Formats: sequence, structure tokens, C-alpha cells
Amino acid sequence: MEVIVCKTAEEASRLAATLITDALQTTPALVLGLATGSTPLLLYRELIKACQSGADFSRVRTFNLDEYCGLPPEHPHSYRTFMNAHLFSNLNIRPENTHVPDGTADNLPALCAAYEAAIAAAGGIDIQVLGIGSNGHIGFNEPGSPLDSRTRRVTLTEQTLRDNTRFFSAREEVPRYAISMGVGTILEAKKCVLLGFGANKARAIKAAIEGPVSPDSPASALQVHRDTVVFLDEAAAAKLQ
Ligand code: F6R
Repeated sequence: MEVIVCKTAEEASRLAATLITDALQTTPALVLGLATGSTPLLLYRELIKACQSGADFSRVRTFNLDEYCGLPPEHPHSYRTFMNAHLFSNLNIRPENTHVPDGTADNLPALCAAYEAAIAAAGGIDIQVLGIGSNGHIGFNEPGSPLDSRTRRVTLTEQTLRDNTRFFSAREEVPRYAISMGVGTILEAKKCVLLGFGANKARAIKAAIEGPVSPDSPASALQVHRDTVVFLDEAAAAKLQ
């Protein structure tokens, strides 16, 4: 793992964006794995700026990490809606090249298998963008998730339900289940870019980087990945030795 500590989340996000736009120069049909939540918002803003300045996303393919079960794509709190609003609708990307799992599919095992097959058919993920949960999750792979897990339906922990209530009007509205790429799926990305910002991520970041590789901290699996860069602000890095 390469760990880069920046003064601010803005600076870290600019570096992460440059890493992606540089890759885009050499690989116009880049395959990106993408995350939702607060953490990648500044990165997405930088990518939109880059597109406005001429970066070409017309051949880029994307695969999002996760989606809530039960929320249709057009639901205001679905991750598809989040991605359209915060990234896709502001890039010259082709909508059909963007993939977010369908949380309303009747046959979830078939949907998950098809999602994995679509990633493989695209040639695998070149760069996977990741945030980290305050409990160490990546995607919605909660503590206890097997390190070789694949795309599947997962049950969200109480901690994650609490953390994500801020996006909903009430706790009861947060779906209890999601579809998530597995830790094993994530580890197959050629490069992983983990972003961690804010003091509430410091404990999870320490466990991920300095703790043992263990399902207790799903992000710790990145220690065995061949090419992971971690971009932190000072607050998230505060507990690192
Ligand atoms: C969401 C995802 C999650 C988030 C994590 C952090 O697609 O993959 O692992 O990255 O829950 O969320 P924020 O950034 O809102 O703190």
C-alpha cells in the first residue's frame, strides 16, 4: 500500500483525480469502479472540472460498488440517482456504459452473477475508487465479510444504518439490505484508490493500514492488493504510527 497524507480532503481529492485523468490519457476506454457517499464528492467535482477542460469520458465504462435493495433506480436515495446527480450527468459519459446494481431485481443471485460477468466482459476494473466505513467496510462489505466474497446481497450493520441515516429523513427509511461487490471482487481491480477523510475514519484507517489482515476490518484486505494507493487528510491519518 502506498499511503499519501494531505493537509486537506480537497488536496487529496485533487491528487486522486489526477491519477484517474492521467490513466484516461493512456487508456481512453478506462474501466472505473466507483463509490457513493460523502467521501468521493470532491473527487467527482474534480473529474467534472477535468471533463469541462477537455478530458474525454466518452469511452469510459463504470461499475458502482453497491446499491440498496428495494430502492428503484429513480428513487431519490438510490445510489443510481446519487451517481447521476453527482457525476454521470455532468460528464460526456454514455449512460449505457455506467453500471449500478439493480436493487429491485427479482432474482438477486442471477443479478449478482450477471454483474460479475459484466465486469469481466469489460476486461476487469482498471481503477477502483473506495471510501471506508467508520467500521472499516469497503463497498458494503461489513466486518465479518469473507475476504474472498463476491457480489451478493448483504445485511447492513447497525453502525452503517446509523451512519447512513443522514441521507434519509428517518432511520427506519434506510434499507437494511444492499447488493455489494465482494471483497474478492474489489481485490481483482488492477488498482485501488482508497479515500479516507475526517476524524471519524481515523480508527478504521488505522485498522486497515496497520492492523492485521482480517475480516474484522474488510479494508485491511487491501494490504494484500498489489497496487493500492490510500489518500488521507490529516484528521483521518491522525492515529497512524
Ligand atoms: C458506498 C460505499 C461505502 C462508503 C462508506 C463511506 O458506495 O462503498 O463503503 O464509501 O460507507 O461513506 P461516506 O463517504 O459517506 O463516509
